Amino acid sequence: MDIGIEKIGFYTPKNYIDIVELAKARNQEPDKFTIGIGQSKQAVPAVYEDAVTMAAEAAEQILTDDRTNIGLVIVGTESSVDESKASALFLMDLLNLPEYARAFEIKEACYGATAGVQMAYNFIATNPDKKALVIASDIARYGINTPGEVTQGAGSVAMLISSQPKILKLENKSVYMSKNVGDFWRPTFSKTAFARGKFSNQIYIEFFQTLWAKYQQKYQATAEDFKAMLFHIPYTKMGAKAMKTLEGNVSDETYARLKDQYQDSIKFGREVGNLYTGSLYLGLLSYLINSDVQAGEELLLFSYGSGAVGELYSGVVAENFAENVNSENVKQTLAQRHQISISEYEEIFSKSISDGEKIDPDEVTGKFYLSEIKENERLYSKK
Ligand code: HMG
Repeated sequence: MDIGIEKIGFYTPKNYIDIVELAKARNQEPDKFTIGIGQSKQAVPAVYEDAVTMAAEAAEQILTDDRTNIGLVIVGTESSVDESKASALFLMDLLNLPEYARAFEIKEACYGATAGVQMAYNFIATNPDKKALVIASDIARYGINTPGEVTQGAGSVAMLISSQPKILKLENKSVYMSKNVGDFWRPTFSKTAFARGKFSNQIYIEFFQTLWAKYQQKYQATAEDFKAMLFHIPYTKMGAKAMKTLEGNVSDETYARLKDQYQDSIKFGREVGNLYTGSLYLGLLSYLINSDVQAGEELLLFSYGSGAVGELYSGVVAENFAENVNSENVKQTLAQRHQISISEYEEIFSKSISDGEKIDPDEVTGKFYLSEIKENERLYSKK
């Protein structure tokens, strides 16, 4: 039986800042941010948006009558809105999901959604007539004037995993590793993350190198087998740095080809910033929409979550995949955004909704929003 991604949806907030403007406001060389880091724009979530509302927006795009067949709902997020209740439960109402399903949240930094995808794979293997909804949803937040600020972002990618993989067939070829590493963390009291930036880059690269060696050995694979290598993209230079470790170890032609293909996978990430759990999957979407990939070609996906867990796994592009990826919708989502100034972004950044406050639906641009906090409970609405 084939198992894999049947549908994929994407959402990012309507507001963004320009990275050159950010560089100027922080007295940095614009080239450092646009070339050294490799970003162009950064998504800025509204005060009423969070991991739940963005997850609902991305999933709503892909769900039809098939929602009645969903038996597993997983939200991979490190931007949790509650220490107890899973984000997935708010979605039960917002998305009208069937009650007889397992719904929960997975946390392991940017790796959470990949854990969800692998769990969904196993679920479909034993329940072939069911479907699993896996959503990556996050707000990457480091704080004003921190080294991480240029690598912030926000958004969500929703995937329907089933026995009809109309987009990407998962091959069940995978290697993974976990280690207790202090490269990046966010204590429960803090809305912003802490990072040992350069150390995190180093660990990311080490995990990729170790897993790539392991993958080659386990599956007698070579770089030539893959049309492209897709990476978790905290910022677009990061995957390129990991890929550089292949230089001299594969033929010059293969290295040049993989480097070239990588450019198609980062086009959308450049426009929104780090989605944490969703970054690898936005990279997949970007690659499927912008590259010359053909059905039957094999892709290698590198997932990395600080802390740290890494996984390297492969998939095969499905027949007629292009018809099943809503590329117009994704392009419109990115094109129909609104640029805000750095001072507007700083003002939004400082705001939050407190207990007892309500949101005026007229100021909401999307469909789903945090409408009220009442008795410290977050209440969501659909417009
Ligand atoms: P920094 O110290 O501000 O920057 O932090 P830098 O001094 O390292 O410069 C960055 C690059 O710009 C360098 O290139 C410079 O040479 C270049 P590199 O040596 O890296 O190739 N540069 C220029 N290029 C062109 N023109 C110029 C110029 N000036 C300098 N004029 C850092 C950068 C990424 C460390 C910081 O932004 C940070 O801490 N970010 C957050 C952590 C992060 O994203 N880590 C990535 C790996 S860990 C991960 O992916 C997991 C994560 O997603 C979290 C999770 O799992 O949940 C983060």
